[in-house]
Amino acid sequence: MQKLWNINRWGFHFRNPISNYYIVETITTTMNQVIETLVTHKSIRHYTDEIPSDEVIETIVQAGQQAPFAHQLYSVLLSRNKERNPFSAPLLFTICVDSHKFECIMAKRNWKIKTNDLTVLLFGIQDACYMAQNMVIAGESLGLGTCFLGYPLTTASTIAKEYNLPKRVFPVVGLAMGYPAEDPPPRPRYPLDFVLFEDEYPELNDDRIAEAMKIMDEGYLSQGYYRKINYKIPLQDGEETFTFTDYSWTEHICRKLGQWHDSLEDQKEQLKACGFFID
Ligand SMILES: Cc1cc2nc3c(=O)[nH]c(=O)nc-3n(C[C@H](O)[C@H](O)[C@H](O)COP(=O)(O)O)c2cc1C
Repeated sequence: MQKLWNINRWGFHFRNPISNYYIVETITTTMNQVIETLVTHKSIRHYTDEIPSDEVIETIVQAGQQAPFAHQLYSVLLSRNKERNPFSAPLLFTICVDSHKFECIMAKRNWKIKTNDLTVLLFGIQDACYMAQNMVIAGESLGLGTCFLGYPLTTASTIAKEYNLPKRVFPVVGLAMGYPAEDPPPRPRYPLDFVLFEDEYPELNDDRIAEAMKIMDEGYLSQGYYRKINYKIPLQDGEETFTFTDYSWTEHICRKLGQWHDSLEDQKEQLKACGFFID
């Protein structure tokens, strides 16, 4: 299966499946404004001082709410405190799993929640993530830049205090937003045939894995991504042998999932502080 288009900062580049060359085209039957917004997405980490209006904010959150939901098990926190927000973003949303709200509704109907907390959390994360991504698309379609932030999962207890969250509300993801002060190129993605598996999951042979790694790594290296931000995740064991010439995306992600967050107890503590118990 061929990926028919690719993008870089100069626009859409369509791949010629035979020569493997990228040729620039402007019109295709599957391109429209929505698809264009989606495929030109890039996370923004530098923002101008311009403050998005209340109308813009409300439109974005309402567009988020129109995401499909199973239970609407979410709430959105907003901070306009630029000084406190990551990247000094004018807006910081924190999207939370919120079972509190629904349990209030249940009480009105003389019901008590019976579903176990892990399942509630998984249901809530589904709802919260669709809502959050809708907000990203809405924001970007209005000319704003966005960047998700993963820290709430491991700092939930602090966020709970900061925003005075009731029990049964668990912050899942942060979302910085504002008008962009940078225009980075879109980041690469795995090739389509490493993601879309029709009818059955294929054998991931060495060639297939190498091809996916190459596309990701060469994409990040050619943008000088880690060199520009001058950051490598430190190794917990062993000496650093990588330079910015070969410190690539797959190495970066390996250093996260290969080193961090091994303690289930730590995660359970964060959940417990928010009133969720996983045993
Ligand atoms: C759940 C989640 C957590 C993320 N956390 C962070 C973060 O803590 N810091 C950051 O700079 N980017 C964060 N990102 C943004 C990713 O780094 C970014 O989406 C990814 O590198 C792909 O780049 P792109 O969004 O520009 O296409 C996060 C993205 C997601 C979906």
